[in-house]
Amino acid sequence: MNWHARRVASPSVVNIADLRRAAARRLPRVVFDYVDGGAEGEVTLRENTRAFEEVVFRPRNAVFVSRCDMRTKTLGCEFSMPLLLAPVGFSRLIHPQGEITAARAAGKAGVGFCLTTISGCPLEKVSAATACPRWYQLYLVGGREAAEAALERAWRAGFAVLAITIDTGTFGFRERDVRNGAGVLVGKSSLAKIPLLPNLLTHPGWLSGFLRDGGMLELPNVMVAGRGPLPLSETQASLAKSVVTWADLRWIRKIWKGALVVKGVLTAEDAVRSLDEGAAGVVVSNHGGRQLDGVAATLRALPEVVKAVGGRAEVLVDGGVRRGSDIAKALCLGARAVLVGRAYAYGLGAAGEAGVTRAIEILRTDLQRTMALLGVESTTELNRSYVDVPASWDLQPHPPR
Ligand SMILES: Cc1cc2nc3c(=O)[nH]c(=O)nc-3n(C[C@H](O)[C@H](O)[C@H](O)COP(=O)(O)O)c2cc1C
Repeated sequence: MNWHARRVASPSVVNIADLRRAAARRLPRVVFDYVDGGAEGEVTLRENTRAFEEVVFRPRNAVFVSRCDMRTKTLGCEFSMPLLLAPVGFSRLIHPQGEITAARAAGKAGVGFCLTTISGCPLEKVSAATACPRWYQLYLVGGREAAEAALERAWRAGFAVLAITIDTGTFGFRERDVRNGAGVLVGKSSLAKIPLLPNLLTHPGWLSGFLRDGGMLELPNVMVAGRGPLPLSETQASLAKSVVTWADLRWIRKIWKGALVVKGVLTAEDAVRSLDEGAAGVVVSNHGGRQLDGVAATLRALPEVVKAVGGRAEVLVDGGVRRGSDIAKALCLGARAVLVGRAYAYGLGAAGEAGVTRAIEILRTDLQRTMALLGVESTTELNRSYVDVPASWDLQPHPPR
């Protein structure tokens, strides 16, 4: 066990905030801010976590809880707890072979793993590294032809569910990334990287890992016909043009054989539309506050979506989950499971696989303790009667326009 793995396993690391601090020490600022930051004024980023603090529990006390059954089934996949690791692009910047490393930790913990299109690792290798249920997240970067080829490969490699992200109409304006020059880190020009050198050189652990890993030069799951993998330097421009529309969704529905989930739903309108287009589930998500700043915290949007879906599909949520008690609150408000992005990305940055494992373990023991204190033996018992939400949360859905 290396020093970083020992550190995250030490008793002084008790929560995700501790992992975040460890990641901030290990990663160069440009990489840490890429993970940690949000769009524009980061209002939605803050709101996502604040919303969890606003919801209060209503426990049933004087109950002896002899077991905590957290097993969860969603869209044909079975998890040891209601948790999936969310798609996190450019994970190879955070840790060598980042996607493979995180998927391996998810597999050992029996939680789900959703691989991003903008992965630096081939999807077949990610799949081979883990026994957990795999989901694949699709952007139309590289166009429809590249997407079709990726979906064929993903299906053959055993990815069971396809998550289509719909909240990237254009690239969110992440002020920290612009200020730090994050774009040049994945760009072609070595000259342009010179201003980053002082920051990179003061993080030799990260730098040697990044260089040994071969840097991150292309997207092996975005094969452009006649050209091969999309170079990383072209990703941002391609992403900016790759909005997924309802028409694309209809096309994808025809070619993807497995279950389909729409990620980035915040309203009853989009939830209903997703179902009409053939989705078996929706993820209430605002991309972790990285896209449109000023949208509602996802926990706040969740009841409206749950009501609109009316049990006809699975509803999952992500954004701001930093504690197991947050998972319990999301389940009380109707989510089947949650996805976490930063919570595990901090662990990945702090100590690779050991850090991701520690993040999952923290969330699992938190949830277990929360259930015991709420007086429930199974996550399936969690419902609206176990929480109060502030009166200011208008839970009436807006009439469709
Ligand atoms: C560094 C980073 C990269 C991300 N990359 C992707 C991506 O490639 N595709 C995607 O659908 N969502 C992406 N997301 C959003 C996450 O999937 C998820 O919605 C979000 O992180 C949830 O919020 P949380 O970080 O507060 O848990 C990314 C998030 C982060 C933090």
